[in-house]
Amino acid sequence: MSRVVLESITKQYPGGVEAVSDVSLVVDDGEFVTLVGPSGCGKTTTLRTIAGFEQPTNGFVGINENRVNTVPPDKRDIGMVFQDFALFPHKTVAENIAYGLKVRGYESDHIDNRVDEMLKLVELPETRERMPDQLSGGQQQRIALARAVAPEPDVLLLDEPLASLDKKLRETMQVELRRIQRTLDITTILVTHNQKEALTMSDRIVVMNDGNFEQVGAPKTVYSNPETPFVADFVGTANIFTGSVSAVDGDTATIDCGHTTIHSTDTDDVAIGDSVSAVFRPEHLSIADPQTATDGAGDQRTVFDGTVSVSRYTGDQIEYHVHTETDEQIVAVQRVAETNIVEGSDVSLELSAENCLLLDQ
Ligand SMILES: Nc1ncnc2c1ncn2[C@@H]1O[C@H](COP(=O)(O)OP(=O)(O)OP(=O)(O)O)[C@@H](O)[C@H]1O
Ligand SMILES: [Mg+2]
Repeated sequence: MSRVVLESITKQYPGGVEAVSDVSLVVDDGEFVTLVGPSGCGKTTTLRTIAGFEQPTNGFVGINENRVNTVPPDKRDIGMVFQDFALFPHKTVAENIAYGLKVRGYESDHIDNRVDEMLKLVELPETRERMPDQLSGGQQQRIALARAVAPEPDVLLLDEPLASLDKKLRETMQVELRRIQRTLDITTILVTHNQKEALTMSDRIVVMNDGNFEQVGAPKTVYSNPETPFVADFVGTANIFTGSVSAVDGDTATIDCGHTTIHSTDTDDVAIGDSVSAVFRPEHLSIADPQTATDGAGDQRTVFDGTVSVSRYTGDQIEYHVHTETDEQIVAVQRVAETNIVEGSDVSLELSAENCLLLDQ
């Protein structure tokens, strides 16, 4: 049983920078939670506070119900992998993995067995006697992970552990890391600024912005129901229009966004006159030829007329950047098989009201 508890954590660095502002979170036993957010938002500071390399200015850090605010890192039973994942260069792979076990005073037979077990887990038994510089970058990464989990720590903390890998290796390692985490059922907190990595790997994600936790939830919830425009924009791609509610009729609201009028069925807590952000995902727009598109917008649909300014082929889909007649930029995506619209074409984008979220500004 290993839970991590953060209660009202604030961290101010000397000089007055408040890196983390009054954040709270409970990471359950065996859970995989990812902190995601832009550079400088406080992810590493939060992780270092859990590890014990930083002490919070205010608040409570708990591991397994114990207050650990002032407990030094080596007494916290935590495994860590940092972005630069430096292995000890003058130790063999086996000696690297054995390091944490030796520090804890295990007998050499136990250490040997455990090293073998770990090498099997990361599928690199043949590298046992090699030096780190005789391994590829991805192999070094896996050994760093083996070294971190070998002593069976209560908690695994990972700060951008895959950032230096190429896309293919990074994706392989994401799968590998998740498999190891599940096999060992180890409570894990990962830091990344890669939102796709956060969405694919985690039980829950924490979207950080400027020292705050903007939203905490399952990846699917955060993607489909972002609570703030920042979250909508950071997790996935979002089209965001700001405006005010000009009518609420039954279950449909009309938002007046200057030159554009948008319809949404997301009418909970919405009243006429409210300032809101209308948010919709690129995949929720359908693209039609203006000649064949049905005329005008109804209550349940918004139509944007414009011209394709950029068409980007991304393998399985095409991303269209559309400049509307009302001088707005909208991103739409379609599966490759469905469309082939060249840049400069006039298009109509259709959005149904139930795919448009309304968020407080
Ligand atoms: N030792 C320090 N002293 C003073 N300010 C610091 C210190 N470490 C970090 N900061 C500041 O605290 C804020 C949060 O930094 P942090 O390293 O936690 O960000 P991050 O989210 O991990 O960013 P990145 O994605 O770039 O790694 C930043 O404004 C940073 O400049
Ligand atoms: Mg960082």
